[in-house]
Amino acid sequence: MAEDKKAKPKPIYKSYCTCTSLLYILAVIGIILAGAYYYVHYGCDLSNEHEEMDCSEIFRMKTLPMFFQWSIEWTQLLDSWGILDFKMSIRRSFDSMNVNTTHLFNTPNITNLSILVQEWEHNGYNLYSYTPNELVGVSNQPVVIHLHGGGGVLFSPKYFDFTIRYLANSYKIKFIVPDYPKSPEVVFPTVHEFCLNAVKHVFENSKKFSIDPKRVSITGDSFGGHAGLYVSFKWRELGYYKKYAPILTLSLVYPWVQFVNTNLDSYRDSNNNNRLLSVRSIATFASFLINGSLDLTDLIINQSLPKMSPNYKERQLAFPELLPKIDWEPPQSMIEKYASSADTIIDPYTCFLFQTDFSHLPPIYVISAGYDLLLSESIMLIQRMNESGVQVEHYVAEKMFHGFFAISKPMKTYSETFIGFEKLGKFLKKHNK
Ligand SMILES: *[C@@H]1O[C@H](CO)[C@@H](O)[C@H](O)[C@H]1NC(C)=O
Ligand SMILES: *[C@@H]1O[C@H](CO)[C@@H](O)[C@H](O)[C@H]1NC(C)=O
Ligand SMILES: *[C@@H]1O[C@H](CO)[C@@H](O)[C@H](O)[C@H]1NC(C)=O
Ligand SMILES: *[C@@H]1O[C@H](CO)[C@@H](O)[C@H](O)[C@H]1NC(C)=O
Ligand SMILES: *[C@@H]1O[C@H](CO)[C@@H](O)[C@H](O)[C@H]1NC(C)=O
Ligand SMILES: *[C@@H]1O[C@H](CO)[C@@H](O)[C@H](O)[C@H]1NC(C)=O
Repeated sequence: MAEDKKAKPKPIYKSYCTCTSLLYILAVIGIILAGAYYYVHYGCDLSNEHEEMDCSEIFRMKTLPMFFQWSIEWTQLLDSWGILDFKMSIRRSFDSMNVNTTHLFNTPNITNLSILVQEWEHNGYNLYSYTPNELVGVSNQPVVIHLHGGGGVLFSPKYFDFTIRYLANSYKIKFIVPDYPKSPEVVFPTVHEFCLNAVKHVFENSKKFSIDPKRVSITGDSFGGHAGLYVSFKWRELGYYKKYAPILTLSLVYPWVQFVNTNLDSYRDSNNNNRLLSVRSIATFASFLINGSLDLTDLIINQSLPKMSPNYKERQLAFPELLPKIDWEPPQSMIEKYASSADTIIDPYTCFLFQTDFSHLPPIYVISAGYDLLLSESIMLIQRMNESGVQVEHYVAEKMFHGFFAISKPMKTYSETFIGFEKLGKFLKKHNK
């Protein structure tokens, strides 16, 4: 069987500089610079904004996202100078950090995170199951499949180890977390289809995983939310809700909903920029996902890419709130070059706001961060779903930024992360009674 073979696709890295040590040095310099920048510019003045936090918490909350952002932008710059390959170095440096969030979270007040973690295989990639001790050996139990975030480009399940362990243990529910191939090695829809197959794989192997196919929920953060939406809409389109069973619930944590419009309210609010994400980093990830290169980044930021789709005018008439009227005609040569990428960006399976049939969707819970570029698109999606009769609930963690579900401890902006966990846990529990 294919799933028994370790057949990871060969990376397409070029042979620029592979020196990880150089990246470490740059990383350290980056952290120091980001820290110094914020210390000099803000010191502790930000405590007015975050009254309950002490200075060191604010410092961490500001510098870590800043560092993350800068590391992406600096690597892009070095790539443009031909010094290193962005594709290779950004992934390699994050992977080689070997972050296991359970070590990062030094959490004295968390009771018992010891649960059975098993490593399985699906199409050559790891797939982890997290079973609370009480549920080991229990057959036919509910399960939550978590699709992890990272722009479809970065990270792996280990970065989410703490979050999943905490949720599984606190709410006594089994989780399954598949790893999946990332862009730029593969592009849309390969990444998304792989996630769809992982979900199918769980349904088809319910005995092996001791799960009840009638009680399978999906959660996803950021890009994982994008993939979760893809899976849910495909589940309807392909009739899988009849063939297997309906997905029980879908929970989206600051989901990425669309790549077409980087000028929505939350993108324009400067309070949100560089809180882990910037407009440029989002466009970078989108360019990788659509085309496997950085080439479309500027066109996406500029919003000129969608306009090169032959279907743009029609789509613009149908969704004027998302697509501005064309105020320039792209030259024919650009249309020819970018037509297929431009069609992908306005595909209802990359921009879920373009979906028109919201039937057979599971009850949906959306958790957003207050300081997040992706907030507006969540609100738009929720509104559209709500009007279409989907059972949808929304919680906004006002003081948090993108990524807070997975990286709360280094920031120590604890309380809202745990409120978020609790909201999600309760939602899952409610539907799994
Ligand atoms: C955690 O749970 C396991 C199994 O339920 C138990 O054996 C272990 O003693 C617990 N650890 C703590 C620190 O409570
Ligand atoms: C992460 O660290 C914990 C604690 O040491 C360990 O039990 C767990 O297996 C690790 N998880 C992964 C995915 O490596
Ligand atoms: C990426 O875009 C270029 C044009 O800039 C095109 O030639 C190429 O085929 C595209 N690649 C993919 C995978 O879509
Ligand atoms: C940005 O968009 C304008 C039209 O609005 C276009 O003329 C220009 O070439 C675009 N620039 C880039 C860098 O994509
Ligand atoms: C859905 O619509 C109803 C009626 O307009 C409104 O009361 C409710 O707050 C909406 N729910 C969400 C999550 O937006
Ligand atoms: C751990 O401590 C934080 C902050 O002190 C608190 O918000 C959180 O609820 C605590 N968690 C548990 C499981 O008690």
